[in-house]
Amino acid sequence: MITGKTKIIGIFGDPIEHTFSPLLHNSAFRELGLDYCYVPFLVKSERLKEAIEAIRALNFIGVNITVPHKEAVIPYLDEIKEEAKYIEAVNTILNNNGKLIGFNTDAYGFINSIFEEGVRVKGSNILLLGAGGAAKAVAFGILKEGGNLFVFNRTLSKAYKLKETFQKMGNIEIIKEINADIMKNFQIVVNATSLGLKDNDPMPINPNFLSRDQVYIDLIYKDTPLLKEAKKCGCKTLDGSGMLIWQAAKAFEIWIGKAAPLPLMKKIFKDKKNY
Ligand SMILES: NC(=O)c1ccc[n+]([C@@H]2O[C@H](COP(=O)([O-])OP(=O)(O)OC[C@H]3O[C@@H](n4cnc5c(N)ncnc54)[C@H](OP(=O)(O)O)[C@@H]3O)[C@@H](O)[C@H]2O)c1
Repeated sequence: MITGKTKIIGIFGDPIEHTFSPLLHNSAFRELGLDYCYVPFLVKSERLKEAIEAIRALNFIGVNITVPHKEAVIPYLDEIKEEAKYIEAVNTILNNNGKLIGFNTDAYGFINSIFEEGVRVKGSNILLLGAGGAAKAVAFGILKEGGNLFVFNRTLSKAYKLKETFQKMGNIEIIKEINADIMKNFQIVVNATSLGLKDNDPMPINPNFLSRDQVYIDLIYKDTPLLKEAKKCGCKTLDGSGMLIWQAAKAFEIWIGKAAPLPLMKKIFKDKKNY
């Protein structure tokens, strides 16, 4: 029940009605008996600055930031954590007594979701498909953990831009063309493009290049055509649901100062069609 003591956390985005985060966090608060409430807010771009100021004015604990505000929010914050500076996007804000601190929990989410499945990053050659917002979070996580990163993107200039941003963190090379020979070099392939969201999307790489000793990871939350082909070939596969849960768990920890109930969050995501 909401009382005068209930602490408020929000999520700002546009659109916002399809967000899954309120269910995830409010269920976690209930499970741990915490007097917190997580509320979605439709925030138009032209009102973003006012919405951010309202975090202080209304004494929110913090907020999540989602599409399309993750980059635009940066100038309105008092401090930006290292990973968010690299990724150039903030998805979590903590209100620390009026000081607004911006975090990005996607890289943590990606790395923890693959570590819990036993995927080894250190020293592995990892092909990253894509150079958008999600790809930058994956790049940060992989380089921080000592992986060798290879980036392929439809728009080559964006791949070079990504390299420029991240090269001081570790080994990073741009791949201009994918072929069977090049594919033999990679132990892990990550699809961070939006290809696979729609059923009739083309595959991000030719499935004939897959080999069974490779791990295929897709950031999309379902079995994409690429993951289905990889499964058929006998590869280990992971979809993006683990990353989503772990990034939410990290945000929870930032706001509350306690570990999130991960098993519950995973169960809610798995059963989400029933809610
Ligand atoms: N699991 C999670 O927690 C999580 C978190 C964030 C995002 N995601 C997923 O990650 C995916 C990417 O999100 P984002 O935020 O990075 O989007 P984004 O910034 O818009 O980047 C989209 C990427 O996909 C590429 N792309 C789009 N259409 C393409 C096509 N027809 N052919 C080849 N490449 C194409 C783009 O290439 P160009 O540069 O050439 O346009 C770019 O690299 C989405 O599917 C999203 O659902 C998952």
